[in-house]
Amino acid sequence: MITPPALIRLAHLAEVDPGPMLDLLAAVEQPGKIEHQAPRGHLDRSPPRSAVLAHDTAVPPRQLPGDVADFSGRWGERHELITALTRSRPHAGQAPIAVVHGAEGVGKTALAVHVCHHMESRFPDGQLFVNLHGSTGSRPRDVADILKHVLHTLGVPRTEIPEHLDDKATMYRNLIARRRILVVLDDAADAKQIKPLLPGTTTAATIVTSRHLFDDLGVTIRVQLGLLSHHETEEMLKQVIGGEFARLDKVLIERTIRFCRGVPSAVRSAGVRLSTPESRLAHETAKPLQARLSAVGSG
Ligand SMILES: Nc1ncnc2c1ncn2[C@@H]1O[C@H](COP(=O)(O)OP(=O)(O)O)[C@@H](O)[C@H]1O
Ligand SMILES: [Mg+2]
Repeated sequence: MITPPALIRLAHLAEVDPGPMLDLLAAVEQPGKIEHQAPRGHLDRSPPRSAVLAHDTAVPPRQLPGDVADFSGRWGERHELITALTRSRPHAGQAPIAVVHGAEGVGKTALAVHVCHHMESRFPDGQLFVNLHGSTGSRPRDVADILKHVLHTLGVPRTEIPEHLDDKATMYRNLIARRRILVVLDDAADAKQIKPLLPGTTTAATIVTSRHLFDDLGVTIRVQLGLLSHHETEEMLKQVIGGEFARLDKVLIERTIRFCRGVPSAVRSAGVRLSTPESRLAHETAKPLQARLSAVGSG
Protein backbone atom coordinates (compact mmCIF):
# COMPACT_ATOMS: atom_id res chain seq x y z
CA MET A 1 0.00 0.00 0.00
CA ILE A 2 1.17 3.57 -0.72
CA THR A 3 2.72 5.33 2.28
CA PRO A 4 1.62 8.85 3.38
CA PRO A 5 4.97 10.48 2.45
CA ALA A 6 4.81 8.91 -1.04
CA LEU A 7 1.23 10.08 -1.41
CA ILE A 8 2.14 13.61 -0.38
CA ARG A 9 5.02 13.62 -2.85
CA LEU A 10 2.67 12.50 -5.63
CA ALA A 11 0.09 15.12 -4.68
CA HIS A 12 2.79 17.75 -4.62
CA LEU A 13 3.91 16.78 -8.13
CA ALA A 14 0.31 16.83 -9.36
CA GLU A 15 -0.28 20.15 -7.52
CA VAL A 16 -3.35 18.86 -5.71
CA ASP A 17 -4.31 19.01 -2.05
CA PRO A 18 -3.11 15.77 -0.40
CA GLY A 19 -5.54 16.15 2.51
CA PRO A 20 -8.55 14.16 1.27
CA MET A 21 -6.36 11.27 0.05
CA LEU A 22 -4.50 11.18 3.37
CA ASP A 23 -7.84 11.02 5.16
CA LEU A 24 -8.86 8.09 2.99
CA LEU A 25 -5.58 6.31 3.63
CA ALA A 26 -5.90 6.84 7.39
CA ALA A 27 -9.47 5.52 7.32
CA VAL A 28 -8.31 2.37 5.50
CA GLU A 29 -5.35 1.81 7.83
CA GLN A 30 -7.09 2.73 11.07
CA PRO A 31 -10.86 2.65 10.71
CA GLY A 32 -12.45 5.33 12.90
CA LYS A 33 -9.47 7.66 12.79
CA ILE A 34 -9.32 10.13 9.93
CA GLU A 35 -6.92 12.78 11.26
CA HIS A 36 -3.58 12.89 9.49
CA GLN A 37 -0.20 14.20 10.43
CA ALA A 38 1.78 15.53 7.49
CA PRO A 39 5.45 14.56 7.75
CA ARG A 40 7.85 17.41 8.24
CA GLY A 41 10.39 18.23 5.58
CA HIS A 42 10.30 19.97 2.23
CA LEU A 43 6.50 20.18 2.30
CA ASP A 44 6.44 22.35 5.41
CA ARG A 45 5.59 25.28 3.19
CA SER A 46 2.30 23.81 1.95
CA PRO A 47 -0.72 25.81 3.05
CA PRO A 48 -2.57 24.49 6.09
CA ARG A 49 -5.51 22.34 5.00
CA SER A 50 -7.96 24.83 6.41
CA ALA A 51 -6.47 27.43 4.06
CA VAL A 52 -7.06 25.18 1.05
CA LEU A 53 -10.58 24.42 2.22
CA ALA A 54 -11.22 28.09 2.88
CA HIS A 55 -10.34 28.79 -0.72
CA ASP A 56 -12.57 26.00 -1.98
CA THR A 57 -15.59 27.64 -0.41
CA ALA A 58 -14.51 31.27 -0.92
CA VAL A 59 -16.26 33.43 -3.52
CA PRO A 60 -13.95 33.91 -6.54
CA PRO A 61 -12.27 37.33 -6.32
CA ARG A 62 -13.67 39.93 -8.72
CA GLN A 63 -11.32 42.85 -8.23
CA LEU A 64 -11.21 44.51 -11.64
CA PRO A 65 -11.93 48.23 -11.51
CA GLY A 66 -14.74 49.42 -13.79
CA ASP A 67 -13.97 49.54 -17.50
CA VAL A 68 -13.45 52.92 -19.21
CA ALA A 69 -16.87 53.30 -20.83
CA ASP A 70 -15.58 55.47 -23.68
CA PHE A 71 -12.42 53.44 -24.32
CA SER A 72 -11.19 54.11 -27.84
CA GLY A 73 -8.54 52.85 -30.27
CA ARG A 74 -5.60 50.59 -29.35
CA TRP A 75 -7.09 47.87 -31.54
CA GLY A 76 -3.79 46.23 -32.40
CA GLU A 77 -2.66 46.18 -28.76
CA ARG A 78 -6.03 44.78 -27.58
CA HIS A 79 -5.79 41.97 -30.11
CA GLU A 80 -2.18 41.13 -29.25
CA LEU A 81 -2.88 40.98 -25.52
CA ILE A 82 -6.05 38.91 -25.75
CA THR A 83 -4.43 36.45 -28.15
CA ALA A 84 -1.30 36.00 -26.01
CA LEU A 85 -3.23 35.54 -22.77
CA THR A 86 -6.01 33.24 -23.94
CA ARG A 87 -4.62 31.01 -26.67
CA SER A 88 -4.64 27.36 -25.66
CA ARG A 89 -1.54 26.38 -23.77
CA PRO A 90 0.35 23.15 -23.23
CA HIS A 91 -0.23 21.34 -19.95
CA ALA A 92 3.25 22.06 -18.69
CA GLY A 93 5.18 25.30 -18.76
CA GLN A 94 4.77 28.82 -17.59
CA ALA A 95 1.60 30.84 -17.26
CA PRO A 96 1.53 33.66 -19.85
CA ILE A 97 2.72 37.08 -18.72
CA ALA A 98 1.97 40.25 -20.70
CA VAL A 99 3.78 43.47 -19.94
CA VAL A 100 2.17 46.75 -21.01
CA HIS A 101 4.80 49.45 -20.75
CA GLY A 102 5.02 53.12 -21.50
CA ALA A 103 5.13 56.59 -19.93
CA GLU A 104 2.75 57.84 -17.27
CA GLY A 105 -0.70 58.79 -18.55
CA VAL A 106 -0.31 56.92 -21.83
CA GLY A 107 -3.15 54.52 -20.97
CA LYS A 108 -1.50 51.36 -19.58
CA THR A 109 -3.99 50.75 -16.77
CA ALA A 110 -6.98 51.67 -18.94
CA LEU A 111 -5.89 49.17 -21.61
CA ALA A 112 -5.14 46.37 -19.13
CA VAL A 113 -8.50 46.79 -17.38
CA HIS A 114 -10.33 47.02 -20.71
CA VAL A 115 -8.91 43.78 -22.12
CA CYS A 116 -9.42 42.00 -18.79
CA HIS A 117 -13.13 42.83 -18.89
CA HIS A 118 -13.21 41.29 -22.36
CA MET A 119 -11.52 38.11 -21.13
CA GLU A 120 -13.49 37.80 -17.87
CA SER A 121 -15.49 34.76 -18.99
CA ARG A 122 -12.25 32.93 -19.90
CA PHE A 123 -11.12 33.20 -16.27
CA PRO A 124 -14.15 32.09 -14.24
CA ASP A 125 -12.15 31.44 -11.06
CA GLY A 126 -11.60 35.14 -10.58
CA GLN A 127 -9.62 38.25 -11.34
CA LEU A 128 -7.12 39.76 -8.94
CA PHE A 129 -6.16 43.41 -9.35
CA VAL A 130 -3.19 44.67 -7.35
CA ASN A 131 -1.98 48.28 -7.48
CA LEU A 132 1.74 48.16 -6.73
CA HIS A 133 2.25 51.96 -6.68
CA GLY A 134 5.53 51.61 -8.54
CA SER A 135 5.55 55.12 -9.98
CA THR A 136 3.36 57.15 -7.67
CA GLY A 137 4.89 59.62 -5.26
CA SER A 138 4.67 57.21 -2.33
CA ARG A 139 7.03 54.24 -1.95
CA PRO A 140 6.26 51.08 -3.98
CA ARG A 141 4.09 48.74 -1.92
CA ASP A 142 5.84 46.05 0.06
CA VAL A 143 5.22 42.69 -1.61
CA ALA A 144 4.90 40.81 1.71
CA ASP A 145 2.06 43.15 2.71
CA ILE A 146 0.41 42.72 -0.66
CA LEU A 147 0.58 38.93 -0.40
CA LYS A 148 -0.92 39.07 3.08
CA HIS A 149 -3.84 41.03 1.69
CA VAL A 150 -4.23 38.76 -1.35
CA LEU A 151 -4.15 35.58 0.77
CA HIS A 152 -6.86 36.97 3.02
CA THR A 153 -8.91 37.84 -0.08
CA LEU A 154 -8.53 34.23 -1.18
CA GLY A 155 -10.08 33.04 2.07
CA VAL A 156 -7.08 32.41 4.34
CA PRO A 157 -7.75 33.48 7.94
CA ARG A 158 -5.23 36.13 9.07
CA THR A 159 -3.93 33.80 11.80
CA GLU A 160 -2.91 31.19 9.20
CA ILE A 161 -0.93 33.53 6.97
CA PRO A 162 2.77 32.64 7.34
CA GLU A 163 5.30 35.24 8.35
CA HIS A 164 8.01 34.82 5.74
CA LEU A 165 7.70 36.13 2.20
CA ASP A 166 8.66 32.81 0.55
CA ASP A 167 6.07 30.94 2.59
CA LYS A 168 3.40 33.47 1.71
CA ALA A 169 4.30 33.20 -1.98
CA THR A 170 4.17 29.40 -1.83
CA MET A 171 0.79 29.46 -0.15
CA TYR A 172 -0.48 31.93 -2.77
CA ARG A 173 0.72 29.80 -5.69
CA ASN A 174 -0.74 26.71 -4.07
CA LEU A 175 -4.13 28.35 -3.60
CA ILE A 176 -4.41 29.52 -7.19
CA ALA A 177 -2.81 26.44 -8.75
CA ARG A 178 -4.97 25.06 -11.56
CA ARG A 179 -7.44 27.91 -11.17
CA ARG A 180 -8.43 29.83 -14.27
CA ILE A 181 -7.56 33.13 -12.73
CA LEU A 182 -6.42 36.46 -14.19
CA VAL A 183 -3.90 38.51 -12.23
CA VAL A 184 -3.36 42.22 -12.96
CA LEU A 185 -0.22 43.71 -11.41
CA ASP A 186 -0.68 47.42 -12.02
CA ASP A 187 2.13 49.98 -11.95
CA ALA A 188 4.95 47.63 -11.02
CA ALA A 189 8.25 49.10 -9.81
CA ASP A 190 10.60 46.20 -10.55
CA ALA A 191 10.86 42.44 -11.04
CA LYS A 192 11.48 41.86 -7.32
CA GLN A 193 8.06 43.31 -6.56
CA ILE A 194 6.16 41.11 -9.01
CA LYS A 195 7.99 37.76 -8.97
CA PRO A 196 6.27 36.46 -5.79
CA LEU A 197 2.88 37.37 -7.28
CA LEU A 198 3.24 35.41 -10.51
CA PRO A 199 1.05 32.30 -10.70
CA GLY A 200 2.83 28.99 -11.14
CA THR A 201 0.42 27.01 -13.33
CA THR A 202 -0.60 27.55 -16.95
CA THR A 203 -4.31 27.93 -16.21
CA ALA A 204 -3.68 31.46 -14.94
CA ALA A 205 -2.55 34.56 -16.83
CA THR A 206 -0.94 37.81 -15.73
CA ILE A 207 -0.89 41.36 -17.07
CA VAL A 208 1.75 43.68 -15.66
CA THR A 209 1.64 47.42 -16.33
CA SER A 210 4.78 49.41 -15.77
CA ARG A 211 7.20 51.98 -17.08
CA HIS A 212 9.73 49.15 -17.32
CA LEU A 213 10.29 46.28 -19.74
CA PHE A 214 11.23 43.49 -17.30
CA ASP A 215 13.82 41.96 -19.57
CA ASP A 216 14.90 39.52 -16.85
CA LEU A 217 11.46 37.88 -16.62
CA GLY A 218 10.07 35.17 -18.89
CA VAL A 219 7.57 37.51 -20.51
CA THR A 220 5.21 36.11 -23.17
CA ILE A 221 4.46 39.44 -24.80
CA ARG A 222 5.51 43.06 -24.37
CA VAL A 223 3.20 45.77 -25.60
CA GLN A 224 4.64 49.23 -25.79
CA LEU A 225 2.05 51.98 -25.58
CA GLY A 226 3.01 55.08 -27.46
CA LEU A 227 1.37 58.44 -27.96
CA LEU A 228 -1.87 58.70 -29.95
CA SER A 229 -1.75 59.83 -33.57
CA HIS A 230 -3.69 62.93 -34.66
CA HIS A 231 -6.54 60.73 -35.87
CA GLU A 232 -6.57 58.61 -32.68
CA THR A 233 -6.60 61.75 -30.55
CA GLU A 234 -9.58 63.08 -32.47
CA GLU A 235 -11.37 59.72 -32.08
CA MET A 236 -10.76 59.72 -28.34
CA LEU A 237 -11.93 63.31 -28.01
CA LYS A 238 -15.09 62.35 -29.89
CA GLN A 239 -15.71 59.44 -27.53
CA VAL A 240 -15.11 61.48 -24.39
CA ILE A 241 -17.15 64.50 -25.51
CA GLY A 242 -20.01 62.51 -27.02
CA GLY A 243 -22.80 64.17 -29.01
CA GLU A 244 -21.53 67.70 -28.28
CA PHE A 245 -18.40 67.05 -30.36
CA ALA A 246 -20.16 67.77 -33.65
CA ARG A 247 -21.21 71.23 -32.43
CA LEU A 248 -17.73 72.32 -31.37
CA ASP A 249 -15.69 74.87 -33.29
CA LYS A 250 -13.27 73.08 -35.64
CA VAL A 251 -10.42 75.47 -34.84
CA LEU A 252 -10.81 74.80 -31.13
CA ILE A 253 -10.77 71.04 -31.76
CA GLU A 254 -7.67 71.30 -33.90
CA ARG A 255 -5.90 73.42 -31.32
CA THR A 256 -6.88 71.01 -28.53
CA ILE A 257 -5.58 68.01 -30.49
CA ARG A 258 -2.22 69.70 -31.01
CA PHE A 259 -2.09 70.83 -27.41
CA CYS A 260 -2.66 67.30 -26.06
CA ARG A 261 0.37 65.96 -27.97
CA GLY A 262 -1.14 62.46 -28.14
CA VAL A 263 -1.22 61.92 -24.36
CA PRO A 264 -4.48 60.11 -23.43
CA SER A 265 -4.70 61.59 -19.93
CA ALA A 266 -4.48 65.07 -21.46
CA VAL A 267 -7.07 64.16 -24.10
CA ARG A 268 -9.48 62.99 -21.41
CA SER A 269 -8.92 66.11 -19.37
CA ALA A 270 -9.53 68.33 -22.41
CA GLY A 271 -12.56 66.27 -23.49
CA VAL A 272 -14.20 66.51 -20.09
CA ARG A 273 -13.71 70.29 -20.06
CA LEU A 274 -14.91 70.75 -23.62
CA SER A 275 -18.06 68.75 -22.93
CA THR A 276 -19.32 71.31 -20.42
CA PRO A 277 -20.61 74.49 -22.13
CA GLU A 278 -19.27 76.90 -19.51
CA SER A 279 -15.65 75.74 -19.85
CA ARG A 280 -15.12 75.50 -23.57
CA LEU A 281 -12.72 78.36 -23.76
CA ALA A 282 -9.28 77.13 -24.68
CA HIS A 283 -7.54 79.12 -21.94
CA GLU A 284 -9.62 77.31 -19.28
CA THR A 285 -8.42 73.92 -20.48
CA ALA A 286 -4.81 74.99 -20.72
CA LYS A 287 -3.66 74.81 -17.08
CA PRO A 288 -4.63 71.23 -16.13
CA LEU A 289 -3.48 69.99 -19.52
CA GLN A 290 -0.08 71.57 -19.09
CA ALA A 291 0.30 69.77 -15.74
CA ARG A 292 -0.38 66.40 -17.38
CA LEU A 293 1.97 67.05 -20.26
CA SER A 294 4.75 67.99 -17.82
CA ALA A 295 4.13 64.72 -15.91
CA VAL A 296 4.56 62.72 -19.11
CA GLY A 297 7.67 64.66 -20.02
CA SER A 298 9.25 63.71 -16.70
CA GLY A 299 8.15 60.03 -16.92
N1 LIG B 1 -7.70 54.20 -25.12
C1 LIG B 1 -8.27 55.03 -24.23
N2 LIG B 1 -9.56 55.41 -24.40
C2 LIG B 1 -10.13 56.26 -23.53
N3 LIG B 1 -9.51 56.78 -22.44
C3 LIG B 1 -8.24 56.41 -22.23
C4 LIG B 1 -7.54 55.55 -23.11
N4 LIG B 1 -6.28 55.39 -22.66
C5 LIG B 1 -6.19 56.13 -21.55
N5 LIG B 1 -7.35 56.75 -21.28
C6 LIG B 1 -7.61 57.66 -20.17
O1 LIG B 1 -6.40 58.40 -19.95
C7 LIG B 1 -6.14 58.54 -18.56
C8 LIG B 1 -4.77 57.95 -18.23
O2 LIG B 1 -4.78 56.56 -18.49
P1 LIG B 1 -4.08 55.51 -17.51
O3 LIG B 1 -4.48 54.16 -17.97
O4 LIG B 1 -4.37 55.85 -16.09
O5 LIG B 1 -2.55 55.78 -17.81
P2 LIG B 1 -1.27 55.05 -17.21
O6 LIG B 1 -1.73 53.84 -16.49
O7 LIG B 1 -0.41 54.74 -18.39
O8 LIG B 1 -0.63 56.07 -16.30
C9 LIG B 1 -7.30 57.87 -17.83
O9 LIG B 1 -8.27 58.82 -17.51
C10 LIG B 1 -7.87 56.90 -18.88
O10 LIG B 1 -9.23 56.68 -18.67
MG1 LIG C 1 -1.61 53.31 -14.47
